[in-house]
Amino acid sequence: MSLEQMAKDMQNCTRCGLANGRTNLVFGVGNPKATLMIIGEGPGQDEDKQGLPFVGRAGQLLDRILAAIDLTREEVYIANVVKCRPPNNRVPTREEAKACLPYLYRQIELVQAKIIVLLGNTALQNLISPAATITRTRGQWLESKSGIKIIASFHPAAVLRDPQKRRPVWEDFQMVREEYRRLMSNS
Ligand code: URA
Repeated sequence: MSLEQMAKDMQNCTRCGLANGRTNLVFGVGNPKATLMIIGEGPGQDEDKQGLPFVGRAGQLLDRILAAIDLTREEVYIANVVKCRPPNNRVPTREEAKACLPYLYRQIELVQAKIIVLLGNTALQNLISPAATITRTRGQWLESKSGIKIIASFHPAAVLRDPQKRRPVWEDFQMVREEYRRLMSNS
């Protein structure tokens, strides 16, 4: 199965209540064979309108963060924990995330990225551990059973609300840049 086929197959998904409020399902975007995958929380208003992840203000900041490590959104793959917008941009519930996670796991399998960046607590808690927090987990490499290097950082929306988070995000993405370069020079 390809990502394209998967996106088509899930267009009418009703696995959770978020389906009722969506304008567009936001599947994911980018290089289907990316070395780096970025995982956020879920679509906001702009994403729901356009059917694309990270296109609003937080997305523009993400583009600038990527540019700072010499990457573009076309080179990486970007997806979210939930594919449909939660009402008023609330955090998706564990049940909503659970209903949607099999799609994300399939995307991870298909893309086969070597590095995954988890942006914010929703991605961290649903993919690593419900008890984990960004503040304690960021800035260090974790590794999946299949050897994928995983790092968590603050969500760009959180950085927009609190400029003090810019520095740690910068440091985390420097770590990503180093690992990305190391992998590229070995391949
Ligand atoms: N925030 C997210 O977590 N994902 C998006 O796609 C947009 C904003």
